[in-house]
Amino acid sequence: MVRAVALTGATGFIGHVLISKLTASGWRVRALARRAAPGQDFPLVEWVYGDLSRDGVLRDLVSGTEAVIHCAGAIRGKSWDDFFQANVIGTKNILRAASDSSSCSRFLFISSLAAREFQLSWYARSKYEAEQLIPEFSGKLASTVFRPAAVYGPGDKAMQPFFRAMGYGILPVPGNAGNRFGLIHVDDVVAAIYGWLEAGRPVSGVYEIDDGTPGGYDYTSIAAIAEQVLNKPVRCFQIPLSGIRVLSCFNLWLARFLNYAPILTPGKVSEFRHPDWTCDISSLKKELAGWSPAIKLQTALPLLVRD
Ligand SMILES: NC(=O)c1ccc[n+]([C@@H]2O[C@H](COP(=O)([O-])OP(=O)(O)OC[C@H]3O[C@@H](n4cnc5c(N)ncnc54)[C@H](OP(=O)(O)O)[C@@H]3O)[C@@H](O)[C@H]2O)c1
Repeated sequence: MVRAVALTGATGFIGHVLISKLTASGWRVRALARRAAPGQDFPLVEWVYGDLSRDGVLRDLVSGTEAVIHCAGAIRGKSWDDFFQANVIGTKNILRAASDSSSCSRFLFISSLAAREFQLSWYARSKYEAEQLIPEFSGKLASTVFRPAAVYGPGDKAMQPFFRAMGYGILPVPGNAGNRFGLIHVDDVVAAIYGWLEAGRPVSGVYEIDDGTPGGYDYTSIAAIAEQVLNKPVRCFQIPLSGIRVLSCFNLWLARFLNYAPILTPGKVSEFRHPDWTCDISSLKKELAGWSPAIKLQTALPLLVRD
């Protein structure tokens, strides 16, 4: 019998790679989409149209599935309410739908490493508050939280400007060049999600994910890697924090005025300023026998610079 999984966020950067992996592996996917016809090229996908605010749509989404992968999330917004509605209320709605369904027993929430420092931004706080909802539903659902570090790969828009600039020999540094952070290729995040889905017994708990590079990266080490693989000089270019902060305030004001969802906000600047976004993947590797990040930045960089 074909096994079925419900997926939110299928139209996004990570979700797009995930849906390909799931269908290629023979899973039937019921996928939530806010827009019509996001792609007809996945034979095992049934699109369910609507968003995370619609209880009836979410009940339909999870119907007949054995697990939910909740990958949808607002990563940009112009107010706390934007993040609260999508990430907190939206997560509560899909948790309720999964918990009420007779078929669904496992739930994976793709949170963010940002949740660890929830005081920094609306985004971080919304992910943290969403995580806090999970115990309420633990009676019926075996739930797991993944907290990825910064995810990169083909199709990503957030980090692409940094990779493209490196192709021109410049690495923009928004913050301190010595700040440390984890990175992970989207294929390795998707492999971990797939490992969770195929695990013989439910995996529970909160797991941070990066590519396992001890101590992570800083901007200087990334510039050094880029120099080595691109075979040309790559210089760190410090962007003054005071300048980015002013720009972020202006961008937020403009977003409210013109009604768009900004990525560069004062909260994002606070995330940039944070000195330590590294993580430890040993507990996840123990839980997901066979999963280990396979792609190193060195290998992926030449393609990303050209993308
Ligand atoms: N990329 C990273 O570096 C990173 C790192 C850590 C954690 N994460 C988390 O991973 C998840 C996926 O990230 P991503 O990079 O793939 O983001 P993305 O490209 O912005 O995709 C977000 C997805 O969520 C959907 N979505 C947003 N709000 C929704 C709502 N109210 N109702 C229904 N769907 C909604 C979007 O639908 P539309 O296509 O209709 O907009 C899209 O499918 C997010 O939860 C994010 O917080 C990402």
